[in-house]
Amino acid sequence: MNKKKVFIVGGTQGIGLAVAHEYARVGCDVAIVGRNTTDLAAAADALRVHGGKVVPIACDAMDPDAAEACVAECVSEAGLGHIDVALMNVGGATPLSSVTASAKDILHVMDLNYATLVHFFVPVTAHMRERGGGVFAHTNSIAGHAGMPLSAHYSASKAAGRVFFEGARVELREHNVRLVTLCPGFVQTRAHEKGEVPTPFILSPEAAAKKMVRAIERERREVSFPWQLATASWLGRVMPKALLEPILARSTPKLPHAT
Ligand SMILES: NC(=O)c1ccc[n+]([C@@H]2O[C@H](COP(=O)([O-])OP(=O)(O)OC[C@H]3O[C@@H](n4cnc5c(N)ncnc54)[C@H](OP(=O)(O)O)[C@@H]3O)[C@@H](O)[C@H]2O)c1
Repeated sequence: MNKKKVFIVGGTQGIGLAVAHEYARVGCDVAIVGRNTTDLAAAADALRVHGGKVVPIACDAMDPDAAEACVAECVSEAGLGHIDVALMNVGGATPLSSVTASAKDILHVMDLNYATLVHFFVPVTAHMRERGGGVFAHTNSIAGHAGMPLSAHYSASKAAGRVFFEGARVELREHNVRLVTLCPGFVQTRAHEKGEVPTPFILSPEAAAKKMVRAIERERREVSFPWQLATASWLGRVMPKALLEPILARSTPKLPHAT
């Protein structure tokens, strides 16, 4: 994987920054994208320690035109020149009660996790098709396999990305563009600072990044980890819902602001 050109959208914090370090450490050039320019500059400085080229790009992934301009900047001569590997990592959600949530709150999470993926999918895969191939990975989630209480909005938005990749993967095959869906369980980032929900088997961003880079480099179609949560999720999907729902209801905490 030496000297690959790696583009990470949402690469200034948490999981995305840890993945950027994994690639930069082995000699790859990386472009990282985020909105906060202070975080962007700090992340770029930390990545430059590894010796490769680092291209920080400020962009709001919610804006499709900005996403297109961001990809153009990344593949320009001043940027990386081209992209071998892209990771679309923007996303997340705070726990939300489906009983009290507004339509706006629910749809904002769909935009953050799904629309942002699509905004980059179109220009990046076009670039990869022109070049004869590449790998486009998405940080999805184990939550994207099934709806979970307090995460119904998030599960739906990640499921959309997973299912989109299932179809698009087949179409992009003949263009040698590989789509990789990465489904982590809990990862210790700012997303869990408030500790609102239990986080069993939580991984450090570094541990998650190692698993993600291995999966990307092996061009795995879909990978879920850690195995304990992947197995629990699978069991939940095959178990009769009449048995599962009371168990989930008993184990779901009440949010302070939920009625
Ligand atoms: N943490 C977990 O337990 C966990 C588990 C499974 C899956 N995931 C998924 O992993 C991904 C990363 O999660 P994380 O916990 O590492 O998040 P994080 O620490 O909050 O980092 C998110 C990154 O995305 C950037 N970003 C956010 N909104 C953006 C926007 N509109 N435009 C451009 N950049 C934006 C952030 O920079 P700026 O804020 O400066 O823009 C930051 O670099 C998400 O897709 C999340 O759903 C997380």
